[in-house]
Amino acid sequence: MDPVLDRISSEIYQNSYVIVDDFISEEFRKALLKEQTSLLEAGKFRQAAIGSGEKKLVRPEIRSDEVLWMDAESISSLQAEYWEKVDAIRQILNQRCFLGLRSFEGHFARYPVGSFYKRHLDQFQQVSYRVVTVILYLNDSWAESDEGALRMYIPQEDGSELIRDVLPIGGRLVVFLSGEIPHEVLPTKKERISITGWLKNID
Ligand code: OGA
Ligand code: MN
Repeated sequence: MDPVLDRISSEIYQNSYVIVDDFISEEFRKALLKEQTSLLEAGKFRQAAIGSGEKKLVRPEIRSDEVLWMDAESISSLQAEYWEKVDAIRQILNQRCFLGLRSFEGHFARYPVGSFYKRHLDQFQQVSYRVVTVILYLNDSWAESDEGALRMYIPQEDGSELIRDVLPIGGRLVVFLSGEIPHEVLPTKKERISITGWLKNID
């Protein structure tokens, strides 16, 4: 058993979230970042929206990042390599945590300087098919003073919340149960690049 997959499944089972540093090699991270940078320069990113279906809205006072959805039809070989890694996570979570995960959707995200995403859950009001959130950070370097942390509000048994701030350090993977962990992206002082995706219980 791959020790990283083993850790992901046991921490998701116990804590509903897990943080894995150096999930990918530096070489792979740089290649993904380079590909994302060229898609950005080609003007492919769009202002991100909130909600789903007909209720999809651009609300820059809630989130001010820009995204490019990954399209399963026209996926690059690098993206496919990442999807395979996420699929291995999907399989172990199904085996160990019985989550019934069937598919993955994801987008590249760019948070320009000053942007943020206010506190939210990744499940929409009307639909709850997003079960597990998987975020991979691609940034070349990140210091505490760059801010832009992912702030997770982890529910405790006594009803309180534990706040955990996670810097978007390149190669770091964050996985959590989409319906259980409210979170936000604090305003960033440096351009912040990631791939965010969701394992879903529908096709
Ligand atoms: C999201 C999100 C967190 C992050 O895209 O839904 O919460 O750290 N992203 O980028
Ligand atoms: Mn989110």
